[in-house]
Amino acid sequence: MDCVRIEGRAYVAGRFARVRLGREGCRTLQFSNDYIILPGMVDIHVHFRDWGLSHKETLAGGAAAALAGGVVAVGDMPNTRPHIRTAELYRKRLEEGASLPIIYRLHMGVPGDLAELDAARPGSVKVYPEDVETYGWGHVEALMRRCASLGCVVVFHCEDPAYFKGAERPPEAELRCVERVRLLASLTGAKVHLTHITLPQTAEASRGWASVDVTPHHLLLDTENCRDPGLCLVNPRLRTPEIRKALLATFAAGLVDMYATDHAPHTLEEKRSQSPPPGICSIDVSLSLLLALWKRGVISLGDVVRLYSHRPARLLGVEAGETFVVVKLEEFKVRGEDFAGKCRHTPFEDFTAFGRVAATAARGRIYFRGGEVYSL
Ligand code: DOR
Ligand code: ZN
Repeated sequence: MDCVRIEGRAYVAGRFARVRLGREGCRTLQFSNDYIILPGMVDIHVHFRDWGLSHKETLAGGAAAALAGGVVAVGDMPNTRPHIRTAELYRKRLEEGASLPIIYRLHMGVPGDLAELDAARPGSVKVYPEDVETYGWGHVEALMRRCASLGCVVVFHCEDPAYFKGAERPPEAELRCVERVRLLASLTGAKVHLTHITLPQTAEASRGWASVDVTPHHLLLDTENCRDPGLCLVNPRLRTPEIRKALLATFAAGLVDMYATDHAPHTLEEKRSQSPPPGICSIDVSLSLLLALWKRGVISLGDVVRLYSHRPARLLGVEAGETFVVVKLEEFKVRGEDFAGKCRHTPFEDFTAFGRVAATAARGRIYFRGGEVYSL
């Protein structure tokens, strides 16, 4: 494979500098000042499906969508079919992920038998509201104790199912869950991360004992500007414009630790059906949606790198130092049909994004938009 090196304007340690990346002796590709080079993005929350759900997405398709979006490392979720609750399945999945062109990490599912954690030694465990329903809070507490001693992070989809009202999942379910988990964290000493939070109160309440992330959809979409019954359906639910704007203000104020997509592919047929499954696809454009907030002056470029590269890399325990993404500083309209994985529908259709991903470098190779691949 032809090898190249890259020369261009990079944002490094808080300022712009001209850099040359890659090995001596390789052909040099120059990027003008219409482009910037950033560290590769790290997304701690994706659903790459595969196995019994490969009609929705596959590991390879998910990785292609990630690269298209400038994402070089992911934390995949365990709600596959079957759900990953044993050391054996956890290892099998990690082995499959190891051959992808991106850096692959996996959050393990809650095991019925907590001894599975001793065998699997996961970096993190994902707790769903369904796990609380199935195993009860007592089991979650025991899991947290085990993780405190093994050193795993407990990642919560924090909604207490006791506060669901039929199909309704009100903000109260998140508030009550956060209260409960805060108490359990202080009792057990477990390291906690609250994923896809939707309320400014959660960001405030988490200070000092948990890290939090927000999704592009809870920052940008709400019950007024997103009304499609299928495409806009997601858990936790989109909130009112008032709550959504308050969350965005909290994000702009620096009270959120990370940005993560919760990229959750389903087929268009499923999303258009009478009972659509929850989940939104966005990883192909998540960086560009974040850069549009930079362009609007809501956050700084340093925030972009902190929120979607440095902090998430720390949570996943990945070294993203050898990776980078090249973005063209131009506006564009989001088009689902341009997405690279199996999921080509998105409620962000027609949204204005900024900073088109021109190339993404991970694991010794550079992938250009349009399909060329070189070694670095
Ligand atoms: O909207 C969601 N989709 N929320 C979840 O918690 C699961 C996810 C999925 O797997 O589709
Ligand atoms: Zn998810």
